[in-house]
Amino acid sequence: MKKKVKNNVYWLGKVDWELRRFHGDEYSTHNGSTYNSYLIKEEKNILIDTVWIPFAAEFVHNLSEEIDLNKIDYIIINHGEIDHSGALPELMKHIPDTPIYCTANAVKSLKGHYHQDWNFNIVKTGDKLDIGNGKELVFVEMPMLHWPDSMAVYLTGDNILFSNDAFGQHYATELLFNDQVDQCDLFKESMKYYANILAPFSHILRKKLDEIMAMNLVIEIIATSHGIIWRDNPMRIVEKYMEWSGNYQENQITIVYDTMWNGTKVLAEKIAEGIAYEDQNVVIKLFNLAKSDINDVTTEVFKSKTVVVGSPTIGNSILHSIAAFISYIKTLKFKDKKAAGFGCYGWSGESPKIIVELMKDAGFEIIGEAFGNQWNPDEDAKKSAVEFGKEIARY
Ligand code: FEO
Repeated sequence: MKKKVKNNVYWLGKVDWELRRFHGDEYSTHNGSTYNSYLIKEEKNILIDTVWIPFAAEFVHNLSEEIDLNKIDYIIINHGEIDHSGALPELMKHIPDTPIYCTANAVKSLKGHYHQDWNFNIVKTGDKLDIGNGKELVFVEMPMLHWPDSMAVYLTGDNILFSNDAFGQHYATELLFNDQVDQCDLFKESMKYYANILAPFSHILRKKLDEIMAMNLVIEIIATSHGIIWRDNPMRIVEKYMEWSGNYQENQITIVYDTMWNGTKVLAEKIAEGIAYEDQNVVIKLFNLAKSDINDVTTEVFKSKTVVVGSPTIGNSILHSIAAFISYIKTLKFKDKKAAGFGCYGWSGESPKIIVELMKDAGFEIIGEAFGNQWNPDEDAKKSAVEFGKEIARY
């Protein structure tokens, strides 16, 4: 069912309440998601983006209830990823010649996904499309936010920025706007989305935000492709993005570990005690990665100034959960964060040093010596772990 955004602009997407994993299994979506498509009915009728493939038939049916498909003049595809372009093949069966406006890279991604030679029209930043009634669409390329093909489009007159993935959240909601939902959930999901998807592109994002500001566009609404539409103080999320893209950290230390026979767990808890003894103001969080959601833990890493990572030694190496975690956070290119490594071992004892090397390679500044302990921690080992925690807190 369509929902009014403003004047002749309507939301016509899909609310996916059941979604629990996204990007395959890479991203947890505890609160579901939405795939937002927009229909603009001025002298010209324009469709902006579609929905994910599983909802293609439903989407095209709903769209056809709102408008004769043959009366759609232009299709704008801001980004070729299939959660937004997935209904195109179904739609284009009905209107194969309708022009599709997108970036040059989106032609590549759309052809790559669907192997169709549709009526593509390549646009660049600053290009405009007259849609009648004195309104225009202004295109803004957004390369690497978060794909090379990404783009935003601005509707003059109504002052709406259709930002695609940027400023979005994986957050299912029946009510469209940011002022209509739980604010705590909204900003938590927004930060998780930033930390896990956009963080690697922070430096590009800052430049792009500056470029958009320099265009002096009046932005009354930011209509994203996932989650809510920002209408109440939409610049608040832009300011948050400026903050998050600036080597963001809070006064937090996060301990992330996995354990086999609880020795590394005991060390983790004693390190936490040591940090708390030394600094009563720092937020301390501790996660057994084998029992925690990697995307949620990664969001905590994003908030942290220091991350303390622990694994026992197994097979002259580290547990696979910790190896996968470090491999993952390396891809996110967090900046200006410190790390330390620790772990228990029975025989060879390589894990703390391996962790330190991997964290260094992931871009973290290493503090202290890698802390290892042979066998189950006794009282002396526990005291040493507390001292290690104090040392970390002092950095
Ligand atoms: Fe929501 Fe990059 O797709």
